[in-house]
Amino acid sequence: MKIAFIGGGVMGEAIIKGILDQGVARPQDTTVSDIDRERLFALGQDYGIRTSADNRQAIEGAEIVVLAIKPQNLKQVMADLQGQAKEQLFLSIVAGASMATISAGLEHNLVVRAMPNTPAQIGEGITVWTASNEVSQGQKGMARSILGALGKEIYVSDEKYIDIATAVSGSGPAYIFLVIEALVDAAVHIGWPRETAGELVFETVLGAARLVQATGKQPAELRKMVTSPGGTTEEALLQLEEGGLRDLIDRAVVAAYEKAKILGGK
Ligand SMILES: NC(=O)c1ccc[n+]([C@@H]2O[C@H](COP(=O)([O-])OP(=O)(O)OC[C@H]3O[C@@H](n4cnc5c(N)ncnc54)[C@H](OP(=O)(O)O)[C@@H]3O)[C@@H](O)[C@H]2O)c1
Repeated sequence: MKIAFIGGGVMGEAIIKGILDQGVARPQDTTVSDIDRERLFALGQDYGIRTSADNRQAIEGAEIVVLAIKPQNLKQVMADLQGQAKEQLFLSIVAGASMATISAGLEHNLVVRAMPNTPAQIGEGITVWTASNEVSQGQKGMARSILGALGKEIYVSDEKYIDIATAVSGSGPAYIFLVIEALVDAAVHIGWPRETAGELVFETVLGAARLVQATGKQPAELRKMVTSPGGTTEEALLQLEEGGLRDLIDRAVVAAYEKAKILGGK
């Protein structure tokens, strides 16, 4: 497939790497446009893809155009591309930008909106996506193969689930990074050397997530299995429950959801 990227930053590069690694697109059929010339040169060198400093030129001949710029640059990019789109499908990963905003800005109604997350950089992401009514089954298939190169993908028919996913899986890796930081600090606090505290915690987090996945058991069941009455785990969990961890996480996710709706103009 012929594919163009507007924005080759962190997420743009993750998608470029994913689709090339998985053979979804060939380097000679992939074009990236970025305002940052050094970045553009590096992407051309690293992946052997075509580069352009002109957004309009970049999308010429492309079947699918990935919008991977920051929300604050979307207006400028849409002004650049307004009325230029022909039969291309536009796949936007821009946080908060609704399909209606993108369709109006581009004067074009073939739009897919996706919310990936940063583990996409290593092919371990999860992406939730939806498409406008005019997008054909064939185009949905193209979008699925691109997003599938980043990890798992889930199609939803209602756009409201994109804002929900933004608050859970989009922002979620940052919540887990914060938990990892806190656990490392706590391990050091009670005497583990800082140099290796990371390993102790990373393997614990990975192992716990993999155990849930491999056993198919509910996390609550696995938690109860390691919590003997009067033991150490029970003592720690009591602190977490009394400190309001569940309510705190709920409030954090609701706050992210409300913000996603505000950014999307709802
Ligand atoms: N990071 C995440 O976890 C995540 C998850 C889901 C969705 N997203 C969304 O993904 C999008 C991209 O995020 P990112 O982290 O990849 O951003 P990024 O690293 O800043 O990449 C965006 C790139 O686009 C370039 N650019 C700016 N204006 C441009 C223009 N007019 N034409 C062409 N290129 C332009 C930027 O150049 P300059 O740096 O010179 O401005 C930069 O190289 C965002 O909308 C974000 O909401 C991110």
